[in-house]
Amino acid sequence: MTAPLIVVFGGTGYLGTHVVLRCLRAGLRVRIVARQPATLPVASGSASYQAADLNDPASLPQALVDADAVVNAVSLYVEKPPTLTFERVHVTGARHLAEACRQRGIPTLVHLSGLNPDPASPSRYVSARGRGEQAVRAVFPDAIVLRPSALFGSHRGLMSTLEQLTRLPVIPLFGRGQTRLQPVHVEDVAQAVVNSLTEPTCRGRIYELGGARILTYRQLVCLALRHTGRRRPLLPVPFALWFAGATLLSLLPSPPLTRDQLILMRDDNVVAPDADDLASLGIRARDIETTG
Ligand SMILES: NC(=O)c1ccc[n+]([C@@H]2O[C@H](COP(=O)([O-])OP(=O)(O)OC[C@H]3O[C@@H](n4cnc5c(N)ncnc54)[C@H](OP(=O)(O)O)[C@@H]3O)[C@@H](O)[C@H]2O)c1
Repeated sequence: MTAPLIVVFGGTGYLGTHVVLRCLRAGLRVRIVARQPATLPVASGSASYQAADLNDPASLPQALVDADAVVNAVSLYVEKPPTLTFERVHVTGARHLAEACRQRGIPTLVHLSGLNPDPASPSRYVSARGRGEQAVRAVFPDAIVLRPSALFGSHRGLMSTLEQLTRLPVIPLFGRGQTRLQPVHVEDVAQAVVNSLTEPTCRGRIYELGGARILTYRQLVCLALRHTGRRRPLLPVPFALWFAGATLLSLLPSPPLTRDQLILMRDDNVVAPDADDLASLGIRARDIETTG
C-alpha cells in the first residue's frame, strides 16, 4: 500500500524542515512546498518539491494533488509592504490554503500559529496570527491548530540568537528581563505535527506547545552566557526606550528590530494551564537547560 502523502507548506523553513524529516521517519511521503526551490533534506524517493505561493491561489491545486494531509508552516516575521504583510501571509494566505484543502476534500489540515494569538493585540503580527486562526477555522472547522512558544534546537532558533547576542560587550535586556517564556524544542513541535495529523481525534482541536521549563528572558540570557562560557554585564533597558528605537529603525528598509517583536518580548509567552499540550499528543517536552 502507498504511504499517505503529507504536503508541507513552508517545508524548507526552520520548523518545516524538521516536520519533513519526522514525516519521512514515520514512513510517510512528503511534498515540500515553498516559493523558492528546495534542496531535498534527504535523498529519498519519498520526498518531492513543488513551487507554490499561498498568495497565489491558482498555484495551490497543483501542490495539493493526491494530498492526504496538509501542514501550513509558512511564516513571515518582518513585513515588506505592499506584497509581504502579516495580513497577506497569516490571514489571507492561510485562508486560501484552507479553502483549497476543503475544496479538494482533504481531511486533515495542521495550521501552525503561535501562543496568545489575540486578534485585538496592538501587535500587527499577533493580531494577524489570531485572525488567521479564525479565518482557517471558519472555512475548515476540523483544522488542527498548533501554537508553539519560541522554538529552540538545531543550529537556529532562540538559543542560537541569544548566543550571538553574548558577543556584545554589554547585553541589553527588554525591560528588567522579567518576561516569561516557555521555549519548546523544534523536534518536539515537529513530532507534534506528525502525531496530530496521524490521529483523527486531534481534528478540530487547538494545542499549545511549550517546553519543560518556564524561564524569564534574563534567565535565558544567563543560560546563553553559560553555554558560550562568556561573562557579560546585563543592562536593563525600559521598554519605552526600545519602542523609541524601533520607531527610528522602522525607517530602514530591513529593520533589525520591530515594534511587533518588542510586543512579543513584553508579554509572557507560556502555555495556559488548562490547554491541550505536548503531553496530550504523547510527547514529553525536552528541557532547554539540558538540551538547548
Ligand atoms: N521560529 C519560531 O520560534 C516560531 C515560534 C512560534 C511559532 N512559529 C510558527 O511556526 C511556523 C514556521 O515558522 P519558521 O520559523 O519555521 O518559519 P521560517 O523558517 O521563516 O520558514 C518559512 C517557510 O515558509 C515559506 N514561505 C514563506 N512565504 C510563503 C508563501 N507566501 N507561500 C508559500 N511558502 C512560503 C518559506 O519558503 P520560501 O521563502 O521559499 O517561500 C519557508 O519555507 C510559522 O507558523 C511560525 O509562526 C515559529
